[in-house]
Amino acid sequence: MENEQQTTMKQLSQALDNQQLEGLSLRLIEMKNWLMDDLLLLDQRFSQVGSDGYADVAWDCAKYLVAIPGKRIRPLCVLLALKMGKGFFDEKAQAVAMACELVHAATLLHDDVIDLGDERRGYPTARVIYSNAASVLGGDHLLLDALKRVRIVKNDLIYDELLEVIDQMVNGEALQLVRRGKFDPNRKAYWQVVEGKTASLFRWALRSGARLAGLDETQIEILGEIGLNLGIAFQLIDDALDLEGDQMTMGKMPFADLREGKLTWPLILASERNPEIAKEIQELVEVENQKTLEAVVLQRNHASTHSSIPSSRYVQLLEKIKDTHAIADTKAVAQEKIDQSIALLEQFSDSPSKIALSTVCQTVMSRKA
Ligand code: IPE
Ligand code: IPE
Ligand code: MG
Ligand code: MG
Repeated sequence: MENEQQTTMKQLSQALDNQQLEGLSLRLIEMKNWLMDDLLLLDQRFSQVGSDGYADVAWDCAKYLVAIPGKRIRPLCVLLALKMGKGFFDEKAQAVAMACELVHAATLLHDDVIDLGDERRGYPTARVIYSNAASVLGGDHLLLDALKRVRIVKNDLIYDELLEVIDQMVNGEALQLVRRGKFDPNRKAYWQVVEGKTASLFRWALRSGARLAGLDETQIEILGEIGLNLGIAFQLIDDALDLEGDQMTMGKMPFADLREGKLTWPLILASERNPEIAKEIQELVEVENQKTLEAVVLQRNHASTHSSIPSSRYVQLLEKIKDTHAIADTKAVAQEKIDQSIALLEQFSDSPSKIALSTVCQTVMSRKA
């Protein structure tokens, strides 16, 4: 587990393939120096999460996840939007940045129960250590904690928009849930799920930072749009990593989406281009789904690691998927979204925060974790 300071920038730089991206890494180092004080403050705040609450197993579970730092890209978005205007990283801004990451952490606790995830951030998931029930309640604690923090900001728009985001996130996950167990490559459903479960929170991070910075409505809208595109690109790269990422670097199991028949962009493209792939995914999903149901009934934790299908079958399927260029084209769509974000940024005058935000957008394309 990580106790070092400045985890935010450290995790973000580690998520990059440094060899190919020297220029980008250098910009991240400059950004780290520039944001040092604010990031240290954020680290300190994260280490205090749950310390004044009533101690129970659900809080233990929540604190376990929060103590393993992720990339913390969402609070970084709040901070950078804040600095696009004249905002200071005061109590209110810290509350919003914290809330953003806590909502994210809450959805991860819930998501790993829904997806029977065994590994997160390179460690066993909270549900494996503390139980599914504790993970659900731990997520609830974090959601409430986030809402309480935002309430003290006393800005109805920021608060109401967060309620809307949580609603969208739940709807996104629910839509994914009803489609589980039957692989149906539907483009419209995909965009609905991605906007709900991932992009809406990125949008809120940038909009709220912009609001606290005193930017005008047009600027808030533009930054929100940048967040939406960034979030979509972030999920598209996540979809690609499921197929070609390295387990050690990602800190989670590859092929998890494929096993579940989750609607991801590369799987949709590959199925459209080669209907045999759709058929094969459907067959695999039926077998895996049966195993998942058994695991749920028997309350087994390590369901996804005990796939009855040999991994060679997934590797063969992966080759067929690659032959359709679906993974490369998924990254190309992500690149388009990032290009749109950077083009939107051009509407702002030059500043260190504009360069920093553009750097963050580019890191999403190169992330390996
Ligand atoms: C994981 O988000 C869930 C997705 C939206 C794909 P992150 O990749 O930001 O997770 P952490 O916080 O860095 O672990
Ligand atoms: C992302 O969902 C989690 C949320 C945004 C709620 P996924 O299930 O696609 O992400 P991973 O692969 O578990 O990180
Ligand atoms: Mg999920
Ligand atoms: Mg998941």
